Amino acid sequence: MQIVILKDAAQVAEYGANIFIEQIKNKANSVIGLATGSTPVALYQELIKKNQQNKVSFADVTSFNLDEYLGLKGDHPQSYRHFMGEQLFNHIDIDVNNTHVPPGDAKNPLTACNAYEDKITKAGGIDVQLLGIGRNAHIGFNEPSSGLTSRTRVKTLTQATIDDNARFFAEDEYQPHLSITMGIGTILDSKKVVLLATGEGKADAIKDMVEGPLAAICPASALQLHRDAVIVIDEAAASKLADTEFYKHIEAENQKLIAHLANLK
Ligand code: F6R
Repeated sequence: MQIVILKDAAQVAEYGANIFIEQIKNKANSVIGLATGSTPVALYQELIKKNQQNKVSFADVTSFNLDEYLGLKGDHPQSYRHFMGEQLFNHIDIDVNNTHVPPGDAKNPLTACNAYEDKITKAGGIDVQLLGIGRNAHIGFNEPSSGLTSRTRVKTLTQATIDDNARFFAEDEYQPHLSITMGIGTILDSKKVVLLATGEGKADAIKDMVEGPLAAICPASALQLHRDAVIVIDEAAASKLADTEFYKHIEAENQKLIAHLANLK
């Protein structure tokens, strides 16, 4: 795991956005994996800004979102499809036909899960997958005890996740307790993963993911198995790690190596 500790949420968003921008500049028809929730919003604003400045084009990009609430149609204001339109797709030059979010209104959710996996495979796999992390260390909606090799499937949300996400729903509004989510195995198949986390509320999850044992009870710990996982966090989210100075030292050395390699070109 590459652990990048930055001052604040703005720096986290910029660092994360640059990974996607570089990816798309190097491969115009990249396949990117996207996430919802509060954390990626600032990164999406960065992508929108760069797209509107003509610094990056999404015209040939294909996207796959991690998850969707089961029981919500794509035009429902709380659906993740709607969220993606509002926060990103409606503001960039991506072809909406090339954007994929699991279908929350699927008549047969099981077939829909398999079809989603097939679409990812047919697209050539995901080049870079964006992730947030739940306070219980879920990634996507892979809640604690999720199988570490799981694929896209229907997943029941924990009460903790329902409570965390209640802020997006009105008091008397129906809040789904089921989801369709890429599995941990699906996420691990991405060529690169970039996980963003900010704020003290994520510090325990980050500690367990980075320094705890690999365990289904901490779904994000599965990223320890990934050969190219970049964890971009602010000081608050890093505050419970045992050796932040060492992680910062490694990252400084990484940056020197990158600069050296750039000079060789
Ligand atoms: C969203 C998702 C979730 C969130 C996580 C953190 O598509 O898959 O795993 O990334 O719940 O959410 P925020 O960023 O709102 O704290």
